[in-house]
Amino acid sequence: MIKKGIILAGGHGTRMSPLTKAVNKQLLPIYDKPLIFYPLSILMLSKIKEILIIINKGQLNQYRKILPDGKNLGIKIIYKEQSYPKGLPDAFLLGEKFIGKDNVALILGDNFFYGQSLSKTLLDCVKLKKGAKVLLHKVSKPELYGLAKVKGRNKIVSIKEKPKKYFSDLAITGLYFFDKNVVKFSKQLKPSKRGELEITDLLNRYKKKQQLYADYIGRGGAWLDTGSIEDFYKTSAFVSAIENRQGFKISCIEEIALNNKWISKKNIIEAIKFYGKCQYSDYLRKLI
Ligand code: DAU
Repeated sequence: MIKKGIILAGGHGTRMSPLTKAVNKQLLPIYDKPLIFYPLSILMLSKIKEILIIINKGQLNQYRKILPDGKNLGIKIIYKEQSYPKGLPDAFLLGEKFIGKDNVALILGDNFFYGQSLSKTLLDCVKLKKGAKVLLHKVSKPELYGLAKVKGRNKIVSIKEKPKKYFSDLAITGLYFFDKNVVKFSKQLKPSKRGELEITDLLNRYKKKQQLYADYIGRGGAWLDTGSIEDFYKTSAFVSAIENRQGFKISCIEEIALNNKWISKKNIIEAIKFYGKCQYSDYLRKLI
């Protein structure tokens, strides 16, 4: 079982400037809560309780104000600063001590996942013992993503990062599951032409060993990437439409912790005090 997870929540968010000049992108709102709540929820739904959040240098105080140490959620959150965006596999270099000899999940701080059978898929993915697993999703603009070609249902035979020429319409989403070799393999990577360590190079190491597997979010599920202002707006509209229609919240971290039996009614009362008089607190009150 994978018990540890990393959220990569740094980056300069340049495409969203001036919004991201003073505040980190992952702390900006997706409708009624900060973006970081959504990837954190995905790890919590995977029953992962030990979490490392990688943030930009100098932003620790901002993050600690909203997500101190995880005790309030029955989990453990630690932080590590990244000096500048060196590429996604840098998460495993910065996380070496945190990972130790364990398998680990990585989720990109700006990825949004939602869907009926998602929890079941996640609980399957954390069973990974050897190799690496990625979640794929069909997209209409493949040139914007890392892409995969698959043999049978689950075996990945080829991957490419944002190719200009059509290659596949199966995007590699920002949620990855790795065995303990991930640190060793990340150390062997060299920066690409754009000066970053590439996640595709890391995944290729596993592919060469015939150990790169795929799972799917499925047609009924949503995967949205919040890279631009337009994407932020669309994701907010999606969350608002579902929450207001059905009366439950997507990615309410306290609700997930309560359902997982990691916290009690007492913690929910404390959370209500912490958030103050607001719609989010009204929702928490209804839970108990
Ligand atoms: O969203 C899925 C896509 O994410 C994948 O399909 C691609 O294969 C993968 O490379 C990645 O592409 P992006 O262009 O979206 O990655 P981006 O550089 O925007 O980084 C994603 C998040 O990770 C973002 O919230 C910033 C954060 N980040 C990124 C880098 C490179 C860091 O915290 N540190 C970094 O060094």
